[in-house]
Amino acid sequence: MEDLLQKVTSLCKRRGIIFPNSEIYGGIGGFFDYGPVGVEMKNNLKRYWWKNMVDKRENVVGIDGAIITHPKVWEASGHVENFGDEVIECKKCHQRFRPEDITEKCPNCGNTEFTEPRSYNLLFETEVGVLENSKMKSYLRGEACQTIYLDFKNVLDSTRQQIPFGIAQIGKAFRNEVTPNRLTFRTREFEQWDLQFFVHPNDMEKWFEYWKEERMKFYKELYRKQENVRLTQHPKDKLVFYAKDAYDVEYLAPWGWAENEGIHWRGDYDLTQHGKFSGKDLSYLDPNTGERYIPHIVETSGGVDRTLLMLLFDAYEEETLPNGEMRTVLKIHKDIAAYRAAVFPLVSNKPEIVQKARDIFATLSNDYKVLWDARGNIGKRYRYQDEIGTPFCITVDYETLENGTVTVRDRDTMEQKRVKIEDLDEALN
Ligand code: GAP
Repeated sequence: MEDLLQKVTSLCKRRGIIFPNSEIYGGIGGFFDYGPVGVEMKNNLKRYWWKNMVDKRENVVGIDGAIITHPKVWEASGHVENFGDEVIECKKCHQRFRPEDITEKCPNCGNTEFTEPRSYNLLFETEVGVLENSKMKSYLRGEACQTIYLDFKNVLDSTRQQIPFGIAQIGKAFRNEVTPNRLTFRTREFEQWDLQFFVHPNDMEKWFEYWKEERMKFYKELYRKQENVRLTQHPKDKLVFYAKDAYDVEYLAPWGWAENEGIHWRGDYDLTQHGKFSGKDLSYLDPNTGERYIPHIVETSGGVDRTLLMLLFDAYEEETLPNGEMRTVLKIHKDIAAYRAAVFPLVSNKPEIVQKARDIFATLSNDYKVLWDARGNIGKRYRYQDEIGTPFCITVDYETLENGTVTVRDRDTMEQKRVKIEDLDEALN
């Protein structure tokens, strides 16, 4: 199964899904770029989450917070003091590793002697300001959710929301991971989708259960292989000190079960800490009962890049066709696929056919992301679209000019049917 990681990595490079960052300079560990196909998939995935978590809910609103904040935020959150990983260092080549990644020998030089584990802070430091003596040390945010706590009061004062309600955000987070690995699974710059749902302390249980169910439903709709998705409770002795309960949504990656998203019982820890460190009152006054309290929080926090990677594992298939040829196909959710359909003129030297295909492309592109391809033969075009996961291929041919129909070919079944041009919208859904 580890083989699948290699295959997906190679497909990502070959088809413009994910590229190593700074590759012409030899690359830089833990940073990646999305290519022309990958950026569409990632944008679709983020839109899909936003639609599910914000647009369809009357009690959730969104924000887009800054990556750099006042440095005190990270003192209040506890990250400056203990946002760490343990590291050990090889005594010969001085490479650093997480102790759990080492069985016996240094993977780099084979040496067997290591230093004792040391604690290592994952926050990226930066400086704000231009004058040498007035520069302020700050950090790139180590988790996106902190911005939501900072904006809690502003959102409450500027919207019509009352508790219970949630604030959602999709945004970058940065961690100087000791061992970034497995393509975009563990990187140093990544994107998170977070919901912080604010509730009355007595309602925590109910909302925690509610969000566990909602989030599992979300992932089950997204993934094809249902048996590869599960919800796992954190052992009580592994919980951070303020958490009463936590679950992970996991997906069966090629190397085993892997965390996709955390559902955390954060209680009143975050607003209490920021209240203390900022000196501002972050309590909530219930307009109906007159009760004042610090809201408690259920968090759902997942990785966008990680989910996309898992979706690629979930979608990747190699199939032998009846004629003995092999095809690689990404059977990815049609709402996440980079393009809903590709439009082909059967031949390039017949202007009426090319024009008709261009007209269809122009009409469809009002509602869908579509791809134009007039290069090479139809077989090669299909192979390419299969590899990037395009659910439908539309071919304009001679018959189109006679009766106004086109062929629509289905990615998964490879079946082709003739469809009237005016019925294309229905055929793509
Ligand atoms: N605010 C809670 C929080 O940040 P987390 O479990 O540390 O919780 C949430 O992170 C999600 O972010 C993880 O489930 C994972 O999907 C993603 N994530 C965390 N670290 C990552 C990394 N180094 N690279 C890619 N994704 C990461």
